Amino acid sequence: MSPVRNVTVLISGTGSNLQAIIDAVDAGRLDIRINHVISNVADAPGLQRAANAGIRSSVLEHGRFAERGDFDAALALLMAAGEPDLVVLAGFMRIIGEPVLNAFRGKMINLHPALLPKYRGVDTYRRALEAGDDRHGASMHFVTEELDGGPVLSQVVIPIQADDNPETLAARLSPREHELVVATVAFFTRHDVACDGGTIRVDGATIRQPFLLQPDGALHV
Ligand code: GRF
Repeated sequence: MSPVRNVTVLISGTGSNLQAIIDAVDAGRLDIRINHVISNVADAPGLQRAANAGIRSSVLEHGRFAERGDFDAALALLMAAGEPDLVVLAGFMRIIGEPVLNAFRGKMINLHPALLPKYRGVDTYRRALEAGDDRHGASMHFVTEELDGGPVLSQVVIPIQADDNPETLAARLSPREHELVVATVAFFTRHDVACDGGTIRVDGATIRQPFLLQPDGALHV
């Protein structure tokens, strides 16, 4: 898959990661165009961020669809209309259904606040603390049928401190997540990244472990 130019971002809430992408594009650090922002929540603050940046946005409220499959079919159509090269799920709180997967398999990446494969699903900060982990982080993975279960492309790691609670940990991870999202999208503009089944290939070579975000903001194995 190369080169990535048009990127669609799916959100449900605050959209701080969307903002990080917008800021990176504005600063000339990221050579993409956000062609569409889609929210499944009508009053998601992230929609205002898109409007402020002059980015086209759409709302597709899952509650207005009687069947889950109808929402998924409508979402697939809405996404397809923009012909994105890459779709970034940044705080999109819906499970992606078959119609969307069929249309965008290998082109969708999700941001998850945990060092996958640890802690799929919600409450990741509390779970990491309760397990006594000494590190936490965020992952960007390809979206598959399995919730937070697709191949992981990139991660950022932060240390857990003795006095951390879920809120302090989330607050410390958040700016690093923003860097991870920007670095990962940028990676797609520089490399041919493909995901078939369980493996990721970068410029033709299978990756054995996720790329890690370095202090200089770059991704390295
Ligand atoms: C992030 O913490 C992300 O890891 C999770 O949802 C949050 C989204 O935050 N999937 P925002 O809406 O981008 O501010």
